[in-house]
Amino acid sequence: MSDSANHMAALHDVWMSAQLVRVEQALSDWVAPAVDLAPVLSQAMRYAVLDGGKRLRPLLVLAAAEAVAAVDEKSLQAALRAACSVELIHAYSLVHDDMPCMDNDILRRGKPTVHVKFGEAQALLAGDALQALAFELLTPAPDVVDTAVQATLCRILALSAGCHGMAGGQAIDLASVGKLLAIDELHTMHRLKTGALLQASVMMGAACGAVSPEAKLALQEYGAAIGLAFQVVDDVLDVTADTATLGKTAGKDAEQDKPTFVSLMGLDASKAYADKLLQQALTALEKTGLSNMRALESLAYMVVNRVT
Ligand code: IPE
Ligand code: IPE
Ligand code: MG
Ligand code: MG
Ligand code: MG
Repeated sequence: MSDSANHMAALHDVWMSAQLVRVEQALSDWVAPAVDLAPVLSQAMRYAVLDGGKRLRPLLVLAAAEAVAAVDEKSLQAALRAACSVELIHAYSLVHDDMPCMDNDILRRGKPTVHVKFGEAQALLAGDALQALAFELLTPAPDVVDTAVQATLCRILALSAGCHGMAGGQAIDLASVGKLLAIDELHTMHRLKTGALLQASVMMGAACGAVSPEAKLALQEYGAAIGLAFQVVDDVLDVTADTATLGKTAGKDAEQDKPTFVSLMGLDASKAYADKLLQQALTALEKTGLSNMRALESLAYMVVNRVT
């Protein structure tokens, strides 16, 4: 790495560590305290959300908010709430994704999955309650976050999580087991099941500040590219990484006969495609015309070069 690339990487590390501390603290404060009317459900929710995960989606929200200069008190609060809300939807999607009726996984984030630890009914409810909590976080009193911003954030998150987003993609995933999908069908599945929430993270961050229509469009392109790249890399890692590193069972896609980029295009072509999407994301960032895009740029590299 050149000196300036090293300097960039160091700056990103400092930025990321600081943001991760904020996100972990906020999640711990906001996700159901252990003593509650339904203590087992609360425990299951905290177990699903805390102590693990790369927190990529919250980082994208915060990076996009920075890029659009969302720096006043209300905007910062909106961005932190948006960051946590998208992580809650993601955590809920993982709890349900791992259940026996879906991927039937026993390991997640290096721990037994929620249904293994708490039973299927509590896992189902933990997912439900995490989804509700996400929208609760986005709708505080109007003096905390402006109501117009609240409505925009809720709409972006709802659209990306529902039947035209993550849930729809998961339905296509389950219906595709054992099938040979055409490449455009695979794109659609990945765009919905994973890409939608990642793109929404970027757009929620952007909604916390002021953004021109051109910059918004370019950020949408960036989000779409890294969103798809993320699932391409997930498919690659399922084949190339081991269970201990991933913190989830490796080799599950082939075992369950899921159509993936690797099964359709092969390993090398999938990796090359992820690199191409990275370039698309970086080009889109240039088009935004925004001045503070360092974190968004580093996160794009992180999505494609990650090992877990
Ligand atoms: C895994 O997402 C599930 C997919 C959407 C492919 P992550 O790889 O972001 O999982 P965590 O949050 O780091 O555990
Ligand atoms: C799941 O995709 C995407 C979600 C919406 C949770 P995968 O089923 O490939 O995710 P992993 O590999 O179990 O994390
Ligand atoms: Mg799945
Ligand atoms: Mg899975
Ligand atoms: Mg996977």
